[in-house]
Amino acid sequence: MSDPIRVRLTGVGGYLPRDVVTNDDLARKFGIETSDEWIRTRTGIGQRHIASGDETTSSMAAEAARQALEYAGVDASQVDAVLVATATPDQVFPAVAVQVQAHLGMTAGFGFDISAACSGFVYALATATALMRSGQARKVLVIGSEVFSRLLDWTDRSTCVLFGDGAGAVLLETGAGEGEGVLSTHLHSDGRTGDLLYVDGAVGCPSTSQHLRMQGREVFRHAVVKLSQAVDEALEANGLTGQDIQWMVPHQANLRIIDGMAKKLALSADRVVVTVDRHANTSAASIPLALNEAVRDGRVRKGDLVLMEALGGGLTWGSALIRM
Ligand code: UT7
Repeated sequence: MSDPIRVRLTGVGGYLPRDVVTNDDLARKFGIETSDEWIRTRTGIGQRHIASGDETTSSMAAEAARQALEYAGVDASQVDAVLVATATPDQVFPAVAVQVQAHLGMTAGFGFDISAACSGFVYALATATALMRSGQARKVLVIGSEVFSRLLDWTDRSTCVLFGDGAGAVLLETGAGEGEGVLSTHLHSDGRTGDLLYVDGAVGCPSTSQHLRMQGREVFRHAVVKLSQAVDEALEANGLTGQDIQWMVPHQANLRIIDGMAKKLALSADRVVVTVDRHANTSAASIPLALNEAVRDGRVRKGDLVLMEALGGGLTWGSALIRM
């Protein structure tokens, strides 16, 4: 019997907009009735990057993708597919992924977007892995890219202080050895909880606002329970325990949620990759941005076991385990 196709992660990249907005800037320059103290204590956020006019979901995604290709030493012409997780596409269509193909000069392969809000990167990773295991693609760019600053109601202090913009990318390639690469992914969604975190309108259901709305406290409550279940599921599927995990690279929504998950796994703080303090919540971009940072600064190394988990609007949630 031939060996099963295994998927390894060979490249990482990221892009953060030039403009940095601190919590104090929000209070002083933007006139929002908030404070650095409130935002830091409740969320761990100290600043966020905000896209300028020339920085779009597709341009940021393309830059993150370029870096991931360069890291892996792979030319764009060798890539079979581009998957972009985003809730903030430049246009309804063409998909951001297809626009990224054009940015990268790709003339072959295929691309499509994935809509799963803040869980989007885990969903895209799972989808790419499945495509690769079934033999439909051998090199796939998986990207999370978002401009949530353009989705926020800047008069709603309970949401506008929480998010930032950015893009992160990984390159996946077939050819991992046994026990290496993407070990498993676990996806969930429950539409009954759609009213806890949503955007109030879109082309198919027009509204005057089209802004992000969230019942923060309820989402927090679901996050603690559901992320915990998704992590248990990942460990159990691979016959592992929390002690086996070298790194947690979680979705970056709130430091209190991240700390809670680390505590559950008995992981010390220096084994958790945190960017929420500098990036805020970049939705589908947060995990690949955090991974990019930790790989490039030498924390996450070849052979390390990395756990990813995320929860977002839908609600959607999931986890992934990767041996780098
Ligand atoms: O990525 C998708 C997943 N998202 C998440 O996981 C987010 C989960 N939720 C959270 O992270 C937290 O619930 C928040 C950070 C959003 C909010 O923290 P909280 O401790 O749940 O606060 P709260 O919403 O219950 O608000 C507490 C108080 C309220 O005042 P009163 O009614 O107690 O007088 C708010 O009006 O804080 C007030 N408040 C603010 N004060 C200063 C809300 N926003 C602000 C603000 N600055 N920006």
